[in-house]
Amino acid sequence: MMKIYVVYDSESGHTEQVARAIAKGARAVEGADVLVNHINQADVRDLVDMDAIIWGCPGHFGSISSGLKQWIDKLGYIWARGELVGKVGAVFCTTATVHGGIEATMLNLITPMLHQGMIVAGLPANLPENALYGSYYGVGVTCPVEGTEDHFSRDLFERGLDLGGLLGRRIALITEALTLGRAQLPHVSLESRR
Ligand SMILES: Cc1cc2nc3c(=O)[nH]c(=O)nc-3n(C[C@H](O)[C@H](O)[C@H](O)COP(=O)(O)O)c2cc1C
Repeated sequence: MMKIYVVYDSESGHTEQVARAIAKGARAVEGADVLVNHINQADVRDLVDMDAIIWGCPGHFGSISSGLKQWIDKLGYIWARGELVGKVGAVFCTTATVHGGIEATMLNLITPMLHQGMIVAGLPANLPENALYGSYYGVGVTCPVEGTEDHFSRDLFERGLDLGGLLGRRIALITEALTLGRAQLPHVSLESRR
């Protein structure tokens, strides 16, 4: 059994939908125990028990929303004890505009994971739909603004949810492989200081 935590910030629900699509993709992998929570319901100490962490937010001016950033900034003690070292990580975000800062936001979301010593995975180009309209840094979804009739934007959102499912599945499969490898090779510890 592996534990995967999808944690997100969301004001008007778009990022929550992506979080749930990711969780659904991860749950489809046998043995995945997937928890999904808004940051207001999420305690950073629960991360310590996870094998993989996927966090995301709406892009705010090309960077992490202040809500999720505040939540991540509670990780000081966890960082000092190295408690997230070796865990699998991945990120997602939503924006209103196609080039409204999606990839910049995802790079900003990845940085604190690397500081924690996590093993970050994105989405590769051998998923044809990702090569066409996705991203290699995680899942970034453009969301239709309220009341728009723009079909292109609505279509991109639906396709983004599908990519979310693929990210969840990929992270679950990577986590499964790492968990099995650790069980078989206990002397190769990714958490050890040497
Ligand atoms: C303070 C603020 C800044 C934002 N900055 C951007 C931006 O730079 N580019 C963009 O495309 N959308 C921007 N947006 C729009 C949100 O990223 C977008 O609507 C997102 O999908 C909302 O997610 P939610 O429904 O989960 O809250 C901004 C929204 C807010 C409130």
